[in-house]
Amino acid sequence: MTDSRGGTGNGGTGNGGAAVGAAAGPALEVRGLTAGYGSLMVIHDLDFTVGRGEIVGLLGRNGAGKTTTLMAIAGFLGRYRGDVLVEGTPLAGPPYRRSRTRVGTVLEGRSAFGSLTVRQNLGLAGADPGEAFELFPELTPKASVRAGVLSGGEQQMLALARALGRHPAVLLIDELSFGLAPAVCERILGRLRAVAEATSVAVLLVEQHIHYAASVVDRALIMNEGLLRAEMPGSDLAARETEIERIYLGGIDEAA
Ligand SMILES: Nc1ncnc2c1ncn2[C@@H]1O[C@H](COP(=O)(O)OP(=O)(O)OP(=O)(O)O)[C@@H](O)[C@H]1O
Ligand SMILES: [Mg+2]
Repeated sequence: MTDSRGGTGNGGTGNGGAAVGAAAGPALEVRGLTAGYGSLMVIHDLDFTVGRGEIVGLLGRNGAGKTTTLMAIAGFLGRYRGDVLVEGTPLAGPPYRRSRTRVGTVLEGRSAFGSLTVRQNLGLAGADPGEAFELFPELTPKASVRAGVLSGGEQQMLALARALGRHPAVLLIDELSFGLAPAVCERILGRLRAVAEATSVAVLLVEQHIHYAASVVDRALIMNEGLLRAEMPGSDLAARETEIERIYLGGIDEAA
């Protein structure tokens, strides 16, 4: 697989022929996003973009505000301030009110119906089973198996296949690596890279483990206490691990 990581910060390593006319901007644009719970503000004034076909990692330690950021972008959480634009169109209202939402999510908990089969889960998500099994051949022999008895890795594959089934412009993923063996996680991340290149979906990947992010992201945003503290190309992550861990713990380094 080609390593297309460039990390220009402008978003979009995979623009290809799809980027024409109104679709030429970033797939996801977050402007001045401030959100939280009740009167508690957790994330502050976030500004970033994710280009078509780009995988951007959102990194930070426990409690940094990563999940809150995803929830606020997806519309599961009220925003105090700021805008979220998908392919130039502002997202407004809760997700269930958006008939043609182009944002897919893979959140913690994996979100499949445990008592339904893999095939039924794909059908309910509007995903074409043929496409899903092509992407994750491991799921083919499990088509008639209840999702609740899948392994952790298989459940993440199903969650990804469900989210990708509606061909979203933007895919938000929270802690894909959680509870997975390293080899399984790396296999799924490799598949994600191939999907981003093939479909130009823009991926925002929340990850706490720097080495997993380093294997797949084009660009990384480092978050601490609800603020974006640094940004760097994915290809820098492995070499700058100590610096990043310092930012995780509250040390402020200038953005690259
Ligand atoms: N439902 C909630 N109500 C109130 N505060 C919350 C809620 N969910 C999270 N928080 C607080 O918001 C802050 C950020 O939490 P968040 O879940 O976004 O962090 P995170 O970066 O995803 O952490 P982790 O790596 O542990 O998943 C934390 O201080 C947390 O206690
Ligand atoms: Mg989280």
